[in-house]
Amino acid sequence: MKTKLKKLIQSLLKNLLGIQIYRVKKDVPDKEKPQLKMKYVHDPAYSYMIEPVYQERLHLELAGVVDSFLSNDFFPNAANNNSLNIVRDFFEIYRSREKKDNTHGSGFHNAFWLYAIARTLSPDLIVESGVWKGHSSWLLSQACPNANQYGFDISLNKLEYTDLKAQMFEQDWQSYSFPDFDSNRSLVFFDCHINHAQRLIEAKAKGFKHILFDDNPPIHKIFSHVPGIPTAAMMVEGEGIDTTEISWMWNGEKITKPIDPKEAKQAKDLIKAHYILPDVGGLTRYGGFAFLTYIQI
Ligand SMILES: C[S@@+](CC[C@H](N)C(=O)[O-])C[C@H]1O[C@@H](n2cnc3c(N)ncnc32)[C@H](O)[C@@H]1O
Repeated sequence: MKTKLKKLIQSLLKNLLGIQIYRVKKDVPDKEKPQLKMKYVHDPAYSYMIEPVYQERLHLELAGVVDSFLSNDFFPNAANNNSLNIVRDFFEIYRSREKKDNTHGSGFHNAFWLYAIARTLSPDLIVESGVWKGHSSWLLSQACPNANQYGFDISLNKLEYTDLKAQMFEQDWQSYSFPDFDSNRSLVFFDCHINHAQRLIEAKAKGFKHILFDDNPPIHKIFSHVPGIPTAAMMVEGEGIDTTEISWMWNGEKITKPIDPKEAKQAKDLIKAHYILPDVGGLTRYGGFAFLTYIQI
């Protein structure tokens, strides 16, 4: 009815007054470009300086940080003067990763240190406790393609990387016996939020020497629900380990975790070196923070 009336008015206007009404076509832009999710704006896979000469300046700065870690001589057998190649390769590999979203797992800066340390130490055996989507397992195998690699997680339901080189076990690593290996050429990465004292004692009993821990705050910087308590940093600083529990607020809730002072003391005595890897988030300006610690027992 409305259309008929509209047509009648239009024809009257045209025939009696000579006024022709045209429909103005809306200017619809070409199909909208799919927008990358904003969460990737700080992802070096999508946002980076294109000019190779400027890329190289960032690589050089990061290589300087790796060199300063290596000056500690934790890995006497490591090939020196290779940091720049490691950094260059890392950027390339990181950009090529198949699954981009690793929320709740290692971000760019943790990935940087994982890759750099694994490449430098070049272990024959790599063990990871806390696999999540498999992103860090994939990265470790990129760093050390010839290593024998194991991954442990109490649930492998979230595993996304399907072509991993690592053997995956849906269990805690505690009850697993590894075939004989050289402790100088092996690396364990704990990213499972389990009590660090327990993990260090287990690692020692299994014959490991080179350890990486994620989430290792000292007692005065604990505010999240994830760290394994007591943390290695608490043991090294000797703070908060003489008591049987500690509490803190997380997201408005009180969290309380038990501590076994005897176990903490035993683990503390195992630690020969404890080195919190420098956070390079400020250096790259990609932001976020890494909290990876290298420990030697
Ligand atoms: C932060 S995620 C690991 C992230 C992963 N390493 C990465 O960087 O992408 C923590 C994982 O630890 C696992 N986890 C919890 N308890 C564990 C245990 N006792 N042994 C091994 N993994 C455990 C969780 O299931 C979860 O997948």
